[in-house]
Amino acid sequence: MAVIKVRNTDEIISGEENVKEFLLNQKVLYEHWDITKLPAELHGRCQINDEEKQTVIDTFESEIKSLAERRGYGSWDVVALSEATPNIEELLKKFEQVHTHTEDEVRAITAGHGIFIIKGSDDTGYFDVELEPGDVISVPEGNPHFFTLMEDKQVVAVRLFIDSTGWVAHPFKDPEFQQS
Ligand SMILES: [Fe+2]
Repeated sequence: MAVIKVRNTDEIISGEENVKEFLLNQKVLYEHWDITKLPAELHGRCQINDEEKQTVIDTFESEIKSLAERRGYGSWDVVALSEATPNIEELLKKFEQVHTHTEDEVRAITAGHGIFIIKGSDDTGYFDVELEPGDVISVPEGNPHFFTLMEDKQVVAVRLFIDSTGWVAHPFKDPEFQQS
């Protein structure tokens, strides 16, 4: 289950209901998929081939279709990042810049871990959402954020797009943001 850390206060929020309530107040969608549906050989594995990525999509077809119907996504894919990914260190540096998109950014973690750093309401400020397999999150359009990996440096995530051709990161310069 996701864990939240509020940067300004060091407050930690855990437990499904608390996490959901906090994120709902910040207009961030949070859901959870039953990760035990995934075939055993894919549990925790982040170096996967195209066929295995398709298995991830097939396994969670009903969850993906449900999100797509409710929120208007027209396409989806699976991204896998690990130490085997070429230029992973450079990629991570590029990731760690606050930016916005013109559509929401939805990620469902199916292996490894990821962390979203999100700009909350004025009285909350930036907060980190640490994600584990089964966690599904969507950052609202226009909301400053970035996504990066955690200590295990690996993740598999389903991404859903309204219009993948228009999915571009717009840098967001923010004097309030402090690197952790
Ligand atoms: Fe983004």
